[in-house]
Amino acid sequence: MNKRIEVALNDQIQKESSSSQYYLAMASWAENNGLNGTAKFMYTHSDEERFHMLKLIKFVNERGGVAIVPSVPQPPVEFDSLERVFELLLEHELMVTESINSVVDICLQEKDYSTHNFMQWYVSEQLEEEALARGILDKLRLIGGDKGGLYLFDRDMEASAAAANKAGTADKKA
Ligand code: FEO
Repeated sequence: MNKRIEVALNDQIQKESSSSQYYLAMASWAENNGLNGTAKFMYTHSDEERFHMLKLIKFVNERGGVAIVPSVPQPPVEFDSLERVFELLLEHELMVTESINSVVDICLQEKDYSTHNFMQWYVSEQLEEEALARGILDKLRLIGGDKGGLYLFDRDMEASAAAANKAGTADKKA
């Protein structure tokens, strides 16, 4: 495997792994703050990020490279508010999108069209994740401090986690 591509993919493995831990920290915070639906959503999201990491590890190894299982920084324990959690999630996803775009760019520079093809799955995944985070943030901003609204929001998040779990299982079988 081309060295530059291998380094870029290992860097992406690190980012997916730290995303998984970050969302796990958000899940734990939500669980400790009575937001069980949001916690389920974040646990599922954390699992998805781990899947993104695994998919990359397998790809690097199958292509003759060496995948590096990364250590990740300690994520925060406390968050200021639910809205802040989703702002941070969106900011994090925007950073991940930038990183994916840079891997795609390196693939083109190195004329590695099969890795470029493989990365397209991540490009579409990022579009979906950003849209989802923006939609959730819009809802939270509409709700403001309304407790009843927050209760319904948390219930919706549980339904959304269940749907993502179902889709995720199908995705991993594909
Ligand atoms: Fe795998 Fe949400 O980036």
